Amino acid sequence: MKLVLDILERRISEVMGLVSGQAGCSAMVKPATDPKFGDYQVNGVMPLAKQLKTNPRELAKKIVSLLMPRKQRLFDFAKQEINVVRHNISDLCQTPEIADPGFINLRLKPDFVADSFLQVSKGPDRLGIEKTDDPETIVVDFSGPNIAKQMHVGHLRSTIIGDAICRLLELEGHKVIRQNHIGDWGIQFGMLVVFLKQKIEKLDTPEWTAPPLEDLEDFYKQANEKYKSDCGFADEARDAVVDLHNGNKAWLELWKMIVSASEKHYRQLYECLSVTLKQEHIRGESFYKDMLADVVGELKKKGLAVESEGAVCVFPDKEKFKDKEGKPLPVIVQKSDGAFLYATTDLAAIRYRVGELKADRLIYVTDSRQSLHFEMVFAVARMAGWAKPETELVHVTFGSVLGEDGKPLKTRSGENVKLKELLDEAVTRARKIVDEKNPEFTEAQRVRIAQAVGIGAVKYADYTNNRTSDYIFSFNKMLAMEGNTAPYMQYAFARVQSIRRKGEQRGIEVNKELADLKTVSLVEPSELDLAKHLIRYGEAVEAAVADYRPNYLTSYLYDLAQKFSVFYTNCPVLDASSDKRPTRLLLCDLTARIIEHGLHNLLGIEVIGQM
Ligand code: ARG
Repeated sequence: MKLVLDILERRISEVMGLVSGQAGCSAMVKPATDPKFGDYQVNGVMPLAKQLKTNPRELAKKIVSLLMPRKQRLFDFAKQEINVVRHNISDLCQTPEIADPGFINLRLKPDFVADSFLQVSKGPDRLGIEKTDDPETIVVDFSGPNIAKQMHVGHLRSTIIGDAICRLLELEGHKVIRQNHIGDWGIQFGMLVVFLKQKIEKLDTPEWTAPPLEDLEDFYKQANEKYKSDCGFADEARDAVVDLHNGNKAWLELWKMIVSASEKHYRQLYECLSVTLKQEHIRGESFYKDMLADVVGELKKKGLAVESEGAVCVFPDKEKFKDKEGKPLPVIVQKSDGAFLYATTDLAAIRYRVGELKADRLIYVTDSRQSLHFEMVFAVARMAGWAKPETELVHVTFGSVLGEDGKPLKTRSGENVKLKELLDEAVTRARKIVDEKNPEFTEAQRVRIAQAVGIGAVKYADYTNNRTSDYIFSFNKMLAMEGNTAPYMQYAFARVQSIRRKGEQRGIEVNKELADLKTVSLVEPSELDLAKHLIRYGEAVEAAVADYRPNYLTSYLYDLAQKFSVFYTNCPVLDASSDKRPTRLLLCDLTARIIEHGLHNLLGIEVIGQM
């Protein structure tokens, strides 16, 4: 099904073209800011009037006159008139209203809403979501934790926002390639392998298995201390890095062990978060290690890289990228000691993703502190031709997670909060609530609900925030049953499902009534209002993808739950007369399916039939 918004945009834009004689008119149809004024508004008349130096109200009148058919026009076969008939919107909308200074307000016809509602409910199972006409190959780089360290709260946003973006893009029909660009190849691993070797040598048993990541992280800290205080150890660590990078087998063995312990840790967290990142999506920094010299070589050959203070640098757009004193900023691709940098790896990755993976678009999901890094790396990749002019490079940024004090969330001792501990606490707190609210449920049921609510609450709270702002992490708020929270949405879903269940218990053949339904009539205002919202799910999905903003989706779902609530308060469902009941059952059914689809399929949040 084509989105209503898109149909209106196309038809009205064409009429504007006919009226003004201008090419490329844009109606700029947007959802109405206030339902008092209708369902959609046309914002494009004022800019067009300005361009034509004419009165916007008069122009709006002319446009409106062509948007509604007049009888005689139907018999007028002049070419233009046929176009006019084809592009009128009387099949969708009531007579438009003009509002000052030149807005056109549109209200959908109840019949059209009823037909679309039936089509969305009964159509092939896409819930009114359109597939793109132009499928692309899109690489999404997200999560990207660093090995030998546990994931902390800083990785939450990249991981779950990136995941939702992948799911949304796939739903629209794009080919998505997930890339988990883990930090697995820095100089910091030299000290860790030396430290581990010394530890193993002290053991009597030759057999030694990898410790869990929690212990490794502890070793990492100890190794760091030793590096600072013990010169002999520091020398050995520095040698080890060089050897490791040159492929020394023994060091590589230890390094691999660190990587696999880390991966095991990520895997558990991804599963717990229902994130679609798998082992095969890991392509960390080490993957690019043998391409780095060539990347630098190519930059030199192309005359883009220069030596500056012993280092190899590229200076993209000197006007744009400069420091406070106005000095141009470099992207350093190789240090004077020969070492390559984070940026070098990112350049190699762009070359690989466009060249080998054939990506049309690259999306990076990291916090906003990396904005300058990506801007400059993108600029260099374009200069080098690794990103083609048509390759879209997108940095999707997000703000920080703050504690109740408004400062970045830390433990009492000032460390980053471990993601695992945060999630465990959410589940424990959810369990307390479930125990209080549903003592009648079995242990297994309560475990399941606590898991779904706890993890769902953390994820959903993150998604509801405008991703570019910081937000305050509050268990109490995110676990509240009121407001736009996961438990509220999960409860709304369970409530809709309970209607069906109760109906079936009373001997109503819900499935049969739904299947037999051929036409619907929406009489009550709250029925019409709910149906209108239901047919606009595709618009919410489209808006969320276009801006990479899951909060558009959560707002839509919250509005849906509220509209459902108004409907259910005003309209009996199971006790409705036989002419009204099937339509109302269908309203319930589609509400449940959309909430489930939004929460489960798009945001990876579990829904529960009963709570
Ligand atoms: N490991 C990085 C970090 O923790 C994130 C990686 C982001 N992706 C990239 N291609 N640079 O900040």
